[in-house]
Formats: sequence, C-alpha cells, structure tokens
Amino acid sequence: MKELFGTYKEKEIYLFTLENEGYIAKVTNYGATLVSFIEKQTGIDVVQGYDTLEEYIQQDFYTGASVGRTANRIGKGTFTLNGKTYHLPINNNGNCNHGGLEGFNRKAFTFKEADNSVIFSYLSADGEEGYPGNLQVNITYTLCEDGLCITAEGTSDQDTLFAYTNHSYFNLDESDNALDHEVKIYADQYGLSDANGMTQDKLEDVKGTPFDFREFKTPAQDIEKENEQLAFGSGYDHFFLIQGEGMRDMAVCLGKKLQLTVSSDLPGMHLYSSNFLDGTKGKKGVAYPRRSALCFEAEYMPNAINYPDIKDKPIVKANETLTCHIRFALTRR
Ligand code: BGC
Repeated sequence: MKELFGTYKEKEIYLFTLENEGYIAKVTNYGATLVSFIEKQTGIDVVQGYDTLEEYIQQDFYTGASVGRTANRIGKGTFTLNGKTYHLPINNNGNCNHGGLEGFNRKAFTFKEADNSVIFSYLSADGEEGYPGNLQVNITYTLCEDGLCITAEGTSDQDTLFAYTNHSYFNLDESDNALDHEVKIYADQYGLSDANGMTQDKLEDVKGTPFDFREFKTPAQDIEKENEQLAFGSGYDHFFLIQGEGMRDMAVCLGKKLQLTVSSDLPGMHLYSSNFLDGTKGKKGVAYPRRSALCFEAEYMPNAINYPDIKDKPIVKANETLTCHIRFALTRR
C-alpha cells in the first residue's frame, strides 16, 4: 500500500506501508528511508522519524536513511583505487562523511512493490560526489516473521566503492532517553577514533574500557566516564569489529517491553548514541533530544579503503554485484 508523501526535485515521493501479523513498517523512496517500525501488540514504534516529507528534507541527522555510497568517514575525502586517486567533498571536520554533500539519504529512489517488500533503486552516475563508475543500487525492505530485513545491492560498470548502512535511530520505549536500554555487542575490539570522529587504523580490546558491551549493560553506565575516546565522540560514536563472519548477530538491545536483535553480514557495526540530536521535533510533535536514541549501523570499518591492514574493503568490482544484508529482529520480552 502506498500514499503520496510529497514531491522532491519534481519526483513523486511515497510512503509505503508493509504489514504482516506482527509488524507494520513504513518506508519512503526519499532516501530509501525507514520511517516507522511498529510492533503491533505493544503498538510501539521503535524508530524515530517525521510525519512529513518537508521535515525529512530539513533535517540533517540521516534519520532512518539509506547511507551511501560510503557510510561513515573517508579520511580527507581521498582514496586510491586501481592506482587512481579520487577526491570526495569534505563535509565533516576535514573528512567525507556518509557519502558526501548529497548522499543516498537525499535521493529520490524509484520503487517496485512486491510481496511484503519494497525495492528502491537508484543509479548513482559516474563521478557523483567524486566516486568513479555508474553504480546501480537496489535497497530492498522486506517484512519478515521476526522483523525487518534490508538487502542492499550495488553493481557498477567500473571498480568503485559501496559501503551501505541503514541509519535508524532506535528507542524501544518511545521515550526521550535511550541510554537506559540494555545493550550487548558481540565485539572484543573497537576502533579508536581521533578528535574528529575519524576511525583510526587501530583496534583496541574492549576489555576494561567503557566499550565493553560483551555482557548486557546500559550505555548510561559508562558514557560519562573520563575517557579520551568518549570525549572524542561526545559519547559512543565508534566502530565495533563484530566476531565471526557472514550473517550473524551483532547487537541485542533491550527496552522495557521489546528486544531488538541486529544481524548483518557486514564486518562490523557503529554504535552511535545520538550525541548530536538537538531536541528537533519528530513524529506527533515529540522532541528528540540528545541521546534519545541508539543507532546500530552495520558497516565496513570506516576508511577501510585507506588502511592496508584491513582486508574487508567495500570494493565493487566492475560488472559484479556487492550485496549486504541487515536484519532488525523485534520481539516482545
Ligand atoms: C556518525 C556521527 C554523525 C551521525 C549523524 C553517525 O553515523 O558516526 O558522527 O553525527 O552519524 O550524521
């Protein structure tokens, strides 16, 4: 089912509703964005968002959006591929964040509705935001038995980069504080950031640090501790290298009534404790203050393309397809 949400750059933008026994999800072709994700028995909508397209266009938080071509930062906006150096726009403290000045979060996607799914497509032209190759992107949202699955596919006519993530802001209680949720992350190591929020080529053991989420704890427990990394991120804004390979659980988050399990076949996950939310109002006029949500952004290690020792690089080979999956399973506790 779809309804008109508005127009953007002369393109029609729709709000699509997917519904099965357990859930209702709303997605829009503006930024291939997740707008709502409701567990029907509790009626709780676990993601932040906006009631109107205008508010989506105005905000700069990447709320619920598909992020690309590259999620998170590329150092100095520069990378070299097949001997050629590329320069991307600088939009974040000297680096390129979340795809550039106008990333996938600001694109009108075309769409196709299927059983329990919507497939959003976008052709990112050669040279867009400085990236090589015509990159055809398909983002599929599917409502499944235990929640929502996202499949992202990128195919290009030249070697290029595609490092997808979904940038949903979760609050499992529809409250104004997500730091009291209990969180478990399947990571023994996390990436050290510099003062600009740029993940370094340095992984540190989580043991004995505020970044140890191997057993359930609330982000509130350690977030105010004196710690250089927390200071650099204004809280949690860090890459976690997730144990194992292939589709596997990355994080579990417990609200009062609901449990979210984030799974993906990407190498790691960014935990962002929404440190830069500023109280802007969202759905039904409810304010979203700083730290009112948690983002679990499954991703490649930020800047992996520039780090020789990191083997998982988000490179799409010419005429091949790079695919990744993210699942947000939502169950009642
Ligand atoms: C980044 C943050 C940024 C946020 C919104 C996160 O993925 O790591 O530093 O503020 O997205 O852009």
